[in-house]
Amino acid sequence: MQAWVIGNWKQNPATSHDVNALLDDLLTAVDTQEQANATGCQLMVAPSCIHLASVSARLKDSPVLCAAQDISAHSANTGAYTGDCSAQQVADAGATWTILGHSERRQYHQESHDCLLQKMTHALTQGLGVIFCIGETQAQYDAEETLDVIDAQLAVVKDLLAQQSELTANLSERLIIAYEPVWAIGTGKVPTVQEVSATHQHIKQTVAGFADSLDSMTVLYGGSVNADNADSFAADPMIDGALVGGASLKAESFLAIADAFRRATS
Ligand code: 13P
Repeated sequence: MQAWVIGNWKQNPATSHDVNALLDDLLTAVDTQEQANATGCQLMVAPSCIHLASVSARLKDSPVLCAAQDISAHSANTGAYTGDCSAQQVADAGATWTILGHSERRQYHQESHDCLLQKMTHALTQGLGVIFCIGETQAQYDAEETLDVIDAQLAVVKDLLAQQSELTANLSERLIIAYEPVWAIGTGKVPTVQEVSATHQHIKQTVAGFADSLDSMTVLYGGSVNADNADSFAADPMIDGALVGGASLKAESFLAIADAFRRATS
């Protein structure tokens, strides 16, 4: 199975100058399609919305895909929704994927089940793939509620399949699940590989139970992945790649993580 290593740049870098410097470093290291194919690892970055068009323009002839970090729940295209960017707008800006349901969106923007179902529908309507983030908080982890939390969050996928059958024909190629324990994001704390593996197995089994076509769902781990711990995650067959925050802001550490997954899949 192909590995995926995706950089979520969040609200970084601060300036276009710094975005271009990061891209310079990234593109120098990964400068041909052939090289990227040789890595056996699909790379993707998700810049903030303001940088999406310029980043996707620079990545156009490279093997690195470009994703949005979010899209509007209210409309797939246009409307009176101040501050929002629609699925059509981010696709027009060059994104081919979007992250949805990141815990920071759930926490700071109160994103609910219904909101995420809307967003997922809009993304697929506009031809965007979806990296759907799920994961438990520290309190939920401590209370051993991880799998219950994940089941509730995955119900968005179940409801999507029930309501939007025409959109979900090739969903296995257009949906990636990213398991990101909230307590591991940006903290340097990580679950054990065994814990992540068991949770990914549960996610894969649950999603396969929704539809036969989803029997080989790609499931990424996210939360304090870095160049030092990537090998241990990459070695587990249940972990199909990584969604990387902080370490994706330096080309060297981002590509070292990709290299760990390439070596594990080769
Ligand atoms: P960190 O890699 O900085 O912990 O962030 C993970 C994340 O939230 C990626 O979406």
